[in-house]
Amino acid sequence: MKIIRCKDYEDMSKKAAALFFSQIHMKPDCVLGLATGSTPVGTYKQLIKWYEEGELDFSKVKSVNLDEYVGLDGTNDQSYRYFMNENLFNHVNIDKANTNVPNGKADNMNEEALRYEALIESLGGIDMQLLGIGNNGHIGFNEPSDAFDKITHEVKLTDSTIHANARFFETIDDVPKTAISMVIGTIMKAKKVVLIANGPKKADIIYETCFGPITPNVPASALQMHPDATIIVDEEAYATILAKRGE
Ligand code: F6R
Repeated sequence: MKIIRCKDYEDMSKKAAALFFSQIHMKPDCVLGLATGSTPVGTYKQLIKWYEEGELDFSKVKSVNLDEYVGLDGTNDQSYRYFMNENLFNHVNIDKANTNVPNGKADNMNEEALRYEALIESLGGIDMQLLGIGNNGHIGFNEPSDAFDKITHEVKLTDSTIHANARFFETIDDVPKTAISMVIGTIMKAKKVVLIANGPKKADIIYETCFGPITPNVPASALQMHPDATIIVDEEAYATILAKRGE
C-alpha cells in the first residue's frame, strides 16, 4: 500500500487524475472502475480539463461504477448514473454505451448483481479502480460487517451512511435505504486501486484503513492486502497518521 500525502483537495485531485491519465495513455481501451460522492469531483474536473486541452482521449475507454441506489433510475438527479453523466461522461468523448452503472431499478437485485459481475468479467476485469471512503470505512457501499461479502448484491445502508449522504437529498427520509454495490472481492480483483480522501472527518478512518487490523469492520482495510493500492490523502485526512506515527 502506497500513501501519497498531498497539500490540499486540489493537489489530491490532480495526483489521482494523473494516475488515470497514465492509465488511459498506457492502455487506451482500459476498463476504469469509477466512484461517486464529493471526493472524486475534483479528479473528474482535472480529467475533463486534460480532455479539453487535447491531452486525453476517452473514445476507447470502458467504465464500471461501484454502486447505485436501489429504486433510482438514471434520470433521478440523485442517482449515481446521473452523477457520472453530469460530472464526467457528458464532458469527455467516452461512448456512453461503454459506461456501466448497476441498474437500481432492476426487478431482481440478485440477478442484476450476477449480471454486473459477469459484465466486469467479460470486459476482462478492472484496470484501475477509483475509490472514495465513507467515514465508517465503507468502500463502494460495503458497510462494516462481520464478514467480507463475496458477490455483488443489494446492501442495507447503515445509519451513519444515510446521515452522511443526507446532504445530497431534500430530507433524510429521501435517502434510499439500500443500494447495489460491487463487493470487496470484486474491488480486490482490480489490477490497480486508487483511494482518495480529504478533510478532517476522514483522518481516523484513513489511519485505521492503512495501519489498523484487516477486518470487515473497516472494509477499506482489505486494501492492505491489495498488491497495487495507492492511497492519496490531503494533509487533513493524513492528520491521524501523523499524530500516531509521527511521520
Ligand atoms: C460512491 C461510493 C462511496 C463513497 C463514500 C465517500 O460511489 O462508493 O463509497 O466513495 O461514501 O463519499 P464522499 O466522497 O461523498 O465523502
